Amino acid sequence: MTDGSTEHIKRFVFSSKYNAQGNPQEEKLEVFIPERLQATYSFYTWPPAPVLAWFLWENRRELIGKRVLEIGAGTALPGIVAAKCGAKVIISESALLPKSLAHTKRSCQLNNLSFNCQVQVIGLTWGLLLNNLDSIGPLDIILGSDCFYDPSVFEDIIVTISYLLEANPYAKFFCTYQERSSDWSIEHLLAKWNLHCQIHDTSSLGQSGGINILDLIGSHTIHILEISKSD
Ligand SMILES: C[S@@+](CC[C@H](N)C(=O)[O-])C[C@H]1O[C@@H](n2cnc3c(N)ncnc32)[C@H](O)[C@@H]1O
Repeated sequence: MTDGSTEHIKRFVFSSKYNAQGNPQEEKLEVFIPERLQATYSFYTWPPAPVLAWFLWENRRELIGKRVLEIGAGTALPGIVAAKCGAKVIISESALLPKSLAHTKRSCQLNNLSFNCQVQVIGLTWGLLLNNLDSIGPLDIILGSDCFYDPSVFEDIIVTISYLLEANPYAKFFCTYQERSSDWSIEHLLAKWNLHCQIHDTSSLGQSGGINILDLIGSHTIHILEISKSD
């Protein structure tokens, strides 16, 4: 990095008194995320990321062997948790932001993920339906944390998701959405692109590991959305 900002490492711990099979046996996962506070959006872990990561951790049984794509990953906490829980993950960041892409890679390296075997890092720019979207291969799950942070890109994201779900009709897009303005909504875009949305309850998230999710998200209002193709 050449922007002069210093890197610090943030440690996230995911734990549970029950193992992935639901039996009483403590399990724990530590993830180390490099951050640069003075740099741009993708160098910092936004509050919706630990929420999505906890959701994945608590549903880790469902992740084993799944083919996962994370979009707009930045520091990639959710994608890294999914890979650590046994999914094969493609982590993507804007192809137009090479420094961000390099930082996403660094995050994966710091967590000793093996490239090609557990993760792959690629450039994927929302709204650009280029050949690389077709080369991604079959997907079960798409992840996105705090991608809906600027209304000018909402439709680009939805178009990309719609395209990927067209190719993978049984896949689901799990994303965290932070309410920043009551004027913002993706509802009309979901209807326009023939997508269906279900909201997951976040209130009990983290309980299995003895944490209160409100300690993670503070005063923010964050929703977990599950978006799929309409019937
Ligand atoms: C608010 S940050 C969220 C980062 C990360 N997912 C998190 O929750 O910590 C938004 C992310 O979207 C990426 N991004 C912005 N525009 C994009 C685009 N057109 N295509 C793909 N990614 C984009 C940014 O580089 C940044 O990493």
